[in-house]
Formats: sequence, C-alpha cells, structure tokens
Amino acid sequence: MKLGVNIDHIATLRQARKTDEPDPVYAATIAELAGADGITIHLRQDRRHIQDRDLALLRAFVKTKLNLEMGITMEMVKIALQHKPDTCTLVPETAEEVTTTGGLDVIMYSDKIEEVAGNLRAAGIEVSVFVDPNIDQVKACYKLGIKLIEINTGEYAKQWNTSFAQLELDKIKKAAVYGKKVNMKILAGHGLTYRNVMHIAAMEEIEELNIGHSIIANSTFMGLEKAVVRMKELMLRARQFNEKA
Ligand code: PXP
Repeated sequence: MKLGVNIDHIATLRQARKTDEPDPVYAATIAELAGADGITIHLRQDRRHIQDRDLALLRAFVKTKLNLEMGITMEMVKIALQHKPDTCTLVPETAEEVTTTGGLDVIMYSDKIEEVAGNLRAAGIEVSVFVDPNIDQVKACYKLGIKLIEINTGEYAKQWNTSFAQLELDKIKKAAVYGKKVNMKILAGHGLTYRNVMHIAAMEEIEELNIGHSIIANSTFMGLEKAVVRMKELMLRARQFNEKA
C-alpha cells in the first residue's frame, strides 16, 4: 500500500510570514527519503499555500510521483499542461473553504470534467477524481472513462470515534469494491490521522492513501522523516493484520 504525502501545509507555514522558509521542495525530498511514494500539492486559485514557483521546482525535484490537485478550470489546465505533473486530481474548490469540503460532484459537472480530463490525458497526464463514497458518483466517473479515483474519507475521519464510523466505513468499502470491479485504481484520503488511518488502510481495494495535515502537524514535534515513517508503518501494519485475519 502506498502513501502520497500532501505538503501544502509546509507552504501554509511559509505563507504565514510570506518568507522563504520552510520550503516545500525540502519537505518533498525528506518525505521521499522517508518512504513517501508520491508528493501531492494543491495549487489553489487564491494561492493561499502552494505557489506557482513551488509547482515548477517540485516538478524538477520530485523523483517519485507528483500529484497536482486542481479545480476544474481552464486556467488550471493551462498550468498543468505547462508543468506536466504525473497525475492531476480534480477537486471542487471554493474560496471560503478552509480545506476541500467534499468530493467533486461528477454528475453535476460531467461536461466540465470530460473537457478538463480530455485535455490532461491528451498531454499524457493521468487523471484522478476526488469523489464522495457514493456508488452513483463512482459510476459517473466510470462513464467518463476515469480510471483512477480518490475516495473522500473526510466524513469517516470526522466520525471515526463515534457510533457512525462503521456506517461511513461501509460507504467507503462499497464505493471501493464497485470501483475495483470496473477496473479502476482506488485511492483514498482526507482527514486521515495516526489514530483513524488503520480502518481505511485495511481495505484491500485501496492502493494508496493521500495524507497531509496530520503528517505535517506531527512533523513539528517529531520531524518530517519520523512523521512519514510512522504513518507508513501504521498503514502497512493495518494491511498485514487484515491479510492475516
Ligand atoms: N485528498 C484531497 C483530494 C485533498 O484535497 C486533501 C487535502 O488537501 C487530502 C487528500 C489530504 O487531506 P488531509 O490534509 O486532511 O490529510
């Protein structure tokens, strides 16, 4: 099972002072050396954390896989085509949100997604769509020829220690099983932490998790290398435990 590390919040800290440290490029290198299988950044419309300069440098420095999260706008398509990340993950984006608040509504925005995905694919960029754990949304992705989806674990993450957790896990499992059945590659992420990651990591359909805030938050205490290693160990332990059971 793979771990993609989202380093947006290294840039958030830098932008708090609009200075030049900490540098997301250093963070990417440390995360990769610690075992990250990919680096994710979200270039937001308002550039609140990651800047265009970061994307350009990370494209040159990232040795694993660079995943660019982006809104479905032609401005972002143009930037993606210029820098050619390995993957683009299409996400909904609003100026008011503190973080991505839900999956992209693939049914409502199917025309736009088709246009954006077509442009990216033509340039050899793999396209992923961030979707809520809902079979209709996964089916809509399938209809558009999307081969890679990232299932939103945000709702589970909010409820992981309540009686609603199992309900959310069931939704994620069903969406993952359906996606796998139609030959999609299944990723998951959002809100995952050291305390709630194991139930998601245990799902054999899921190939990769994208985790940002918890790793970066804990890196302030234990260092980024340890924060990545510990998350990956937990994920792998959950997966092995599930395989033995
Ligand atoms: N996946 C997507 C599509 C996201 O937008 C984010 C947050 O940027 C993440 C995963 C990572 O979420 P978190 O920072 O809560 O780990």
